[in-house]
Amino acid sequence: MSRPNHQLGVAAAALLPLLLLLLLPAGSRARDTISPGQPLRGNETLVSSGAGSFVLGFFSPPGSNNTYVGVWYAKVPVRTVVWVANRADPVRGAVGRNAGATLSVSATSGGGCALAVAAPNGTVVWSVSPADGGGGGGPCTARIQDDGNLVVSEQGQGGRVVWQGFDHPTDTLLPGMRLGVDFAAGKNMTLTAWASPSDPSPGAVVAAMDTSGDPEVFIWNGRTKVWRSGPWDGVQFTGVPDTVTYKALGFSFRFVNDGREATYSFQVRDASIVTRLAINGTGSVVGGGGTLQRWTWLDAARCWNLYWYAPKDQCDAVSACGPNGVCDPAAVPACSCLRGFTPRSPASWALRDGRDGCVRAAPLDCANRTDGFALLPHAKVPDTTRAVVDFNSSLDQCRLRCLGNCSCTAYASANLTGEPGHRGCVMWTGGLDDLRVYPGYGQDLYFRLAAAELASISKSKKKVNIVVAIVVSLTALAILLAIVGFFIWRAKKVRARKPGSSIGRAGLHSNEGSEGKDHGDDLELPIYDFKTIAVATDGFSTENKLGEGGFGPVYKGKLEDGREIAVKTLSRTSAQGLQEFKNEVLLIAKLQHRNLVRLIGCSISGPEKILIYEYMENKSLDYFLFDATKSKILNWQTRYRIIEGIARGLLYLHQDSRYRIIHRDLKTSNILLDKEMTSKISDFGMARMFGSDDAQINTLRVVGTYGYMAPEYAMDGVFSVKSDVFSFGVIVLEIITGKRNRGVYSYSGHLNLLAHAWSLLNEGNGLDLVDENLDGSFNSDEVLKCLKVGLLCVQENPDDRPLMSQVLMMLASTDTASVPDPKQPGFAARRAAADDTSWSKPDCSVVDNMTITMVEGR
Ligand SMILES: *[C@@H]1O[C@H](CO)[C@@H](O)[C@H](O)[C@H]1NC(C)=O
Ligand SMILES: *[C@@H]1O[C@H](CO)[C@@H](O)[C@H](O)[C@H]1NC(C)=O
Ligand SMILES: *[C@@H]1O[C@H](CO)[C@@H](O)[C@H](O)[C@H]1NC(C)=O
Ligand SMILES: *[C@@H]1O[C@H](CO)[C@@H](O)[C@H](O)[C@H]1NC(C)=O
Ligand SMILES: *[C@@H]1O[C@H](CO)[C@@H](O)[C@H](O)[C@H]1NC(C)=O
Ligand SMILES: *[C@@H]1O[C@H](CO)[C@@H](O)[C@H](O)[C@H]1NC(C)=O
Ligand SMILES: *[C@@H]1O[C@H](CO)[C@@H](O)[C@H](O)[C@H]1NC(C)=O
Ligand SMILES: *[C@@H]1O[C@H](CO)[C@@H](O)[C@H](O)[C@H]1NC(C)=O
Ligand SMILES: *[C@@H]1O[C@H](CO)[C@@H](O)[C@H](O)[C@H]1NC(C)=O
Repeated sequence: MSRPNHQLGVAAAALLPLLLLLLLPAGSRARDTISPGQPLRGNETLVSSGAGSFVLGFFSPPGSNNTYVGVWYAKVPVRTVVWVANRADPVRGAVGRNAGATLSVSATSGGGCALAVAAPNGTVVWSVSPADGGGGGGPCTARIQDDGNLVVSEQGQGGRVVWQGFDHPTDTLLPGMRLGVDFAAGKNMTLTAWASPSDPSPGAVVAAMDTSGDPEVFIWNGRTKVWRSGPWDGVQFTGVPDTVTYKALGFSFRFVNDGREATYSFQVRDASIVTRLAINGTGSVVGGGGTLQRWTWLDAARCWNLYWYAPKDQCDAVSACGPNGVCDPAAVPACSCLRGFTPRSPASWALRDGRDGCVRAAPLDCANRTDGFALLPHAKVPDTTRAVVDFNSSLDQCRLRCLGNCSCTAYASANLTGEPGHRGCVMWTGGLDDLRVYPGYGQDLYFRLAAAELASISKSKKKVNIVVAIVVSLTALAILLAIVGFFIWRAKKVRARKPGSSIGRAGLHSNEGSEGKDHGDDLELPIYDFKTIAVATDGFSTENKLGEGGFGPVYKGKLEDGREIAVKTLSRTSAQGLQEFKNEVLLIAKLQHRNLVRLIGCSISGPEKILIYEYMENKSLDYFLFDATKSKILNWQTRYRIIEGIARGLLYLHQDSRYRIIHRDLKTSNILLDKEMTSKISDFGMARMFGSDDAQINTLRVVGTYGYMAPEYAMDGVFSVKSDVFSFGVIVLEIITGKRNRGVYSYSGHLNLLAHAWSLLNEGNGLDLVDENLDGSFNSDEVLKCLKVGLLCVQENPDDRPLMSQVLMMLASTDTASVPDPKQPGFAARRAAADDTSWSKPDCSVVDNMTITMVEGR
């Protein structure tokens, strides 16, 4: 009885794919390739195979009566064209009337391949036919690849690529695309802005690599230089000094300068990050029009977010302060002269126009070899179009070479990532043009000065130097004594230590060999004597007990130097605790941020393992928030600052600290408050550091606190940065409402805080949620913005939740309407019909201080 049935089942299963294939109408299977017999018609598109990321087809820009062949994103609901074939040679008429237009590929009589766009009347409006056919002349095909590249290849030559769109960028640089010059292939890849939003033909604004000296990217507006990237210093362009912060987000950058090519390109590790670098003909007030912009697609918010752009400030305008002038955006006036130089025309400098630049106060004396060099730190190095580069010398050799060559006026390292003896150098002649400084970033520039000027610099330093010398020698002595003391102490400890029962200093070293160069290489974490701590806490007296921490009691204490501390002990009984203790020490010792509680030291010598933190005068957030009287102290401004502080701290953990840390136990009792009510994230016992490649981690042991735990973590043990984002959202909602989210999620229909907040917001009654203890005094725009942000963070699908960088952007935005509407929060929505919100906007509101926020976090 069961046998025949079974066989039938097998047969049906085998037939099923075939049936499905037959059932699918032939036209609905998107193709990605055209071949000589099968051109692309005006009413068809090609879709890249693989992830199906890009579409190639005919389009008319809004407001245009012309038709073009272009490439755009398949999954971005706002049509964003990233490449245009016939940008200057359109087919006349809007796309709807050009169903008969074609994009075709064919073999040429010379044995090569040609790609052509033809109007419905058959006239070819645009074509390319790569010169060398190579004689093979096999069948030609053109294929749209999943990276957005349209590739023409000769099948006969084993798929030899004869032409590709990536070699001919329009206005957009996609991941993997090169900007610059390929000398070997004779290609100059530039980005040229559209003439206008309705006209893709080449406009006046161009971004191109200048290879005359040390290669640099320039933005041109016609013949005017708008912006200069500065040379590549081995890590980044010297004029884009915040590039390092993007690395944490999964960007990687590549710069090739090997004589055959001088090109820049970028990649994203995480394929879900949709990002593009594009030249925009308008949009800039600095430098006379033309902006290079990096956009990233925020899927949760359905908009393009302007992530980075240049020029950005007045000092980004090319040569704002003229030759030998230094532009510092933080100074008033912004222009000053290099040391040893004076304004060329003091009158115009007095009027705050520094473009004339500066001249030497004392002439050089090269022949006598008395000149020397002064240092300008944190510089964007001067224009290198006339500079000479040498990648093979040490900086000292460069100094000698520059000194020996009377036309050399300055030098700097050429390759910061090179071996110490081979960092090479860039050497300048003549005036030092387009020089600026950055707060905290930038390179060291050594510029030539006459002996007389150097003497006057060192004279003013001399007095200071004597003092410094004394201090230095005393400090050195003290350090020496301390080191000797430490080794004596350690020798004693090693003898006394039971193996495996405690972490010695070696155990405190970073276990991340590859990333160790940061601040974590050798952790300068003071180790305190158990006795010192016992004295500081009055022998761990009950009066000094602050509470119970994650793995033991916490005491207040006072060190001999008067510093107040919080002492966290690890109870002896907990075996699990030791691991977590080590974890916390290793993690937090590497972290330094205003919104993270600071570890002052630890003690491992006594019967208990102890962590010593800075003392937080105002305890924790829950202490205030959920208490009817104390919560009155937290006015709205304070609450808002607390929210921002937590967001900054969390961004630092997730992205900026280089270690990618997931906290896993964020809750109001782990948010501590200092004297000024600055919020500080604490308790890293559950935190996990994870490799940059793991987007999420699976764990068998679910730790954390119900009510704050993301559903996917509570249910499936899957955690990612988005699980922290969820907890952050809960905290935000608790801060607004002053009520605890008691939800252990259930299907019972009982509304928890999240669901309650969502439904009130949707009814337009969001402000009803605000804590009564605020007595109605709050900024309702800010409250609504926070409410939305909080609810965006607790959406059920982790992919829908924003990243912390996006959260900070939304918080910084003054336009509440720009914050997208959240979907129903986790679990509450399970039974509701899937709501398919299909709103989308071209841009997210522009938030200028995004990068600043990120830089601050470091
Ligand atoms: C496009 O063509 C339509 C009619 O074909 C005309 O009304 C419209 O003004 C044209 N638009 C432009 C921008 O030329
Ligand atoms: C064919 O179309 C092209 C472009 O659309 C146009 O320039 C050309 O004048 C047309 N030729 C004829 C004969 O209509
Ligand atoms: C495209 O237009 C042609 C006529 O120009 C027509 O034969 C074909 O069916 C159309 N294809 C689609 C997919 O609409
Ligand atoms: C590449 O093009 C840019 C802009 O048109 C130009 O300034 C530059 O000199 C070109 N480089 C080479 C090597 O042709
Ligand atoms: C150019 O930049 C402005 C301002 O950032 C922006 O509004 C506009 O959409 C950009 N244009 C394009 C084509 O991206
Ligand atoms: C440099 O040498 C010249 C002679 O060659 C001499 O007259 C001059 O005083 C010297 N200058 C200094 C600063 O030593
Ligand atoms: C680099 O310098 C060394 C000596 O310092 C020399 O032997 C070598 O040829 C140089 N290489 C290049 C590429 O100039
Ligand atoms: C001095 O440097 C310039 C530019 O770097 C170079 O052109 C010149 O040949 C050098 N002179 C000597 C003597 O090395
Ligand atoms: C800079 O140094 C790194 C490490 O030695 C090397 O890989 C890279 O090729 C160098 N860059 C240049 C332009 O020489």
